[in-house]
Amino acid sequence: MSETAATHTPENGTAGNGAVLSIPTTSFRDGSAIPLIGFGTSSLRGTGAVTAIASALRSGYRLIDTAAQYGNEAAVGAAIRESGAARDEIVVTTKVAGGDQGREAARRGVEESARRLGLDRIDLVLIHWPNPSRGLAVDTWRTLLDLREEGLISHAGVSNFRPEQLVELHDATGEWPEANQIQLSPALARTDTVAFCDEHGILVEAWGPLGGRDGLPEQFALRKVAERHGATPAQISLRWAIDRGIIVIPKSSTRERQIANADLGAIALTDEDRALLATLDLGEDAAWDSREHEEW
Ligand SMILES: NC(=O)c1ccc[n+]([C@@H]2O[C@H](COP(=O)([O-])OP(=O)(O)OC[C@H]3O[C@@H](n4cnc5c(N)ncnc54)[C@H](OP(=O)(O)O)[C@@H]3O)[C@@H](O)[C@H]2O)c1
Repeated sequence: MSETAATHTPENGTAGNGAVLSIPTTSFRDGSAIPLIGFGTSSLRGTGAVTAIASALRSGYRLIDTAAQYGNEAAVGAAIRESGAARDEIVVTTKVAGGDQGREAARRGVEESARRLGLDRIDLVLIHWPNPSRGLAVDTWRTLLDLREEGLISHAGVSNFRPEQLVELHDATGEWPEANQIQLSPALARTDTVAFCDEHGILVEAWGPLGGRDGLPEQFALRKVAERHGATPAQISLRWAIDRGIIVIPKSSTRERQIANADLGAIALTDEDRALLATLDLGEDAAWDSREHEEW
């Protein structure tokens, strides 16, 4: 990691308000803290979403990942209020949907997200996918920088951007995103993209960190490492990522799994473990390709 890249302290979290979890943090380029383990919400909807997200917050999660596209921002807001967690301790992330890209459309999109969340400021806003066929990522990026300047958002970043797509934003504005949320697990180590982000002080967040859609939990190498540590395959995948300074945002509807996914302090992976896990990497080509894949 370069000097400007985020530092992380995987052993030292801070517990609060009787929460059972003590989640370690890393930091944005400006030094403000963000938990290394957050809570994903993509398939949660309605009252079930409120229950699951409030449960995660009560257990000690302080990073919540949503998106305009998920249709659950109102539920995230309701869960925050229901949980009783202090607003200034929580990092809320949302994302600009493909259909909201553009200079003015992105502004309206983020304002609508804030309204649905019931927040007067959003901690982190990402461009959900680059969607190159529309050519609006740079305009959208300029708007996020304006909104950060104006104070509606605290941090501006992107999701699913490849290094050359990050360079395009930087060339146009002189500003690197503060975070890049990408598909990442031991099945998709994304070594080059992570190295590029580290070099430019861009925090990496892992979506799909359990690798379920890539058949990762069934892999012998992962189960072998899990057995060695008396841990679950999910915990090993998550520990492997945070040891690289990468933020993980696993989603679970059950309280037991929510807690297990953020209770990683006792797991100390060895070089031998890491070598075994490295055999699981399917390579960059196995990840969804944001030069072609677009979302709205
Ligand atoms: N930026 C993007 O384009 C993008 C794309 C996809 C996702 N995301 C974000 O990333 C978050 C995480 O990704 P994801 O939801 O796709 O995948 P994930 O968190 O890797 O996996 C979630 C699945 O794993 C199960 N699970 C959770 N904990 C488990 C455990 N300890 N053992 C076994 N199974 C477990 C969950 O089921 P149960 O609920 O039954 O536990 C759920 O089916 C999303 O929720 C979303 O916030 C972003």
